Parts: sequence; C-alpha cells; structure tokens
Amino acid sequence: MSVTTVISNNQIASDIFVLTAEGDYQGEMGQFYMLRGWDQFPILSRPISIHDIGEGYISFLYRVVGQGTELLSRLKPGDFLGLEGPYGNGFPVIQGKVALVGGGMGTAPLYYAAKRLLNSDAYLGFSYEAFRVEEFRHTTGQTKVNIGGYIVDDFDPTGYEAVFTCGPLPMMRALATKLQGTSTKLYVSLEKRMACGIGACFVCSCATTNGNRKACKDGPVFLAEEVDLDDLNSH
Ligand SMILES: Cc1cc2nc3c(=O)[nH]c(=O)nc-3n(C[C@H](O)[C@H](O)[C@H](O)COP(=O)(O)OP(=O)(O)OC[C@H]3O[C@@H](n4cnc5c(N)ncnc54)[C@H](O)[C@@H]3O)c2cc1C
Ligand code: FES
Repeated sequence: MSVTTVISNNQIASDIFVLTAEGDYQGEMGQFYMLRGWDQFPILSRPISIHDIGEGYISFLYRVVGQGTELLSRLKPGDFLGLEGPYGNGFPVIQGKVALVGGGMGTAPLYYAAKRLLNSDAYLGFSYEAFRVEEFRHTTGQTKVNIGGYIVDDFDPTGYEAVFTCGPLPMMRALATKLQGTSTKLYVSLEKRMACGIGACFVCSCATTNGNRKACKDGPVFLAEEVDLDDLNSH
C-alpha cells in the first residue's frame, strides 16, 4: 500500500465528498483503488473508483454510507491516506462516440472516462440532488441531467458506438433493454461488495457467460451481454 497526503476533502452535496490526494498515480477509466483513511479498524480497505487523475493528484468522489466512508469524510488536508491499486478491468478505449450514462454515485468513474475519451456525451441521473454536473459539461460534447425521474428516458442511443454505464441495477437493465437490436455495445460497471479487491477471496463472484468471474479482477467493467443483469443484486 502506498501512503499519500490528503490535499482536500470537500463536501459537495448531502453525504457526497470529493477527496483529492497528492502524487502521480496511474489508472485506466473504470479502475478503482482500495482506500484506507484509518489505522487498524475497520480491517478492510474500501474500493472507490478513480474519479480523476491529473499531474500530481488523484481524486475520488464518494458517498458516506457506513463506517469506512464516514472515516474517509473526516480526513483533513495534510492527513495520511493509504492507497492500493489501480485494480480491476476498466472500460475499453473506443474510437467512436461514447455515451456515459450514470446514476447517482455511478457518475463517479464516468468523469475520468469523459476526460480520457475524445468524443463523449454524458447522461446523469440523480434522485434528488445533482453534483459534478459543471465538470461533466466542461469535458463532454453535451451533458443531460435528470433529477427525480429516469435518465434512460432522456437517452437516444442513435450515433453511439458504445455506452458506458454505472449506477443502480434497474437503470442498467433499462439501458440494456433500450439497446436491444442495436449495434451499440453496452459496458456495465458492477459495484459488487468486495473484500480483498485483488481476486483472492471470491466475495465478489458473479455469473457470466464465461462462468463465474470476479468483479474485482475480471471486472468491475463487463460487456452487458456477458452478465445476467436480471440475476444480479448490488451486493
Ligand atoms: C469497484 C467499486 C467501485 C466503487 N466506487 C465507488 C465510488 O467511486 N464512490 C462511492 O461512493 N462508492 C463506491 N463504491 C462503493 C463503496 O466501496 C462502498 O460504499 C463502501 O465500501 C462502503 O463502505 P462503508 O464502510 O462506508 O460502508 P459499510 O458499513 O461497509 O456499508 C454500509 C452500507 O453500504 C452498503 N454497501 C457497502 N458496499 C457496497 C457496494 N460495493 N455496493 C453497494 N452497496 C454497498 C452496505 O450494504 C450497507 O448497506 C465502489 C464499490 C466498488 C466495488
Ligand atoms: S474482492 Fe476478493 S476476490 Fe474480489
């Protein structure tokens, strides 16, 4: 594990924070790091997607949902942060136009994808409060936002070579249905519960057309046609 220093840890919406740490880190779009902002307990580090990487910094966008993320939210500039990674199999590099469709915290990995792709649009859905929308607007061709409704209803797949999605399973299932019969490839990022993050414990196992795969190592990104979205639950 590398230990780095927190540059900032800003609350940007209810329970939502952006944590930025110092260093020149590597990572592909859709990959994640295991974060640890504490000493001994909880024992397990927590998986958080790469939200942004730039010269001298790496950022994570996270929601406080339990003990680990609550401890992360208490970090102050100058505090130490443990990082392991980058882990996982991320989104592929696509030459054509890509639609980034995210729901809630699922928007976290899509911002880094928007920065890495030459030609993308973003479709961002939120239950009640939007965040990071301006950052997406500055990085994509167009950014559509839906608050309180269904972002998939606002999405027309025409003209996209691929769709990258992350967020609630019902949203990803609705997208898969919408793309049926088109040539547009759908890549889903699955946020299964994880323990080791490196393929050693089988906690994150999920059924695919190629047998059982580990979301932490073989994923978290899979081609939607390889996984049975109806058979998945989020944990
Ligand atoms: C590959 C990957 C990337 C992720 N990227 C991000 C990210 O960029 N930003 C972010 O906010 N979160 C992300 N998550 C989810 C994040 O890891 C969990 O929210 C976090 O581990 C919860 O830790 P905790 O100790 O705060 O909560 P816990 O006390 O462990 O759990 C609190 C609640 O959150 C639920 N929960 C815990 N883990 C998950 C999970 N993986 N998926 C759904 N629900 C969960 C639990 O069931 C419980 O209800 C990612 C998860 C994975 C697997
Ligand atoms: S989290 Fe241990 S195998 Fe995936």
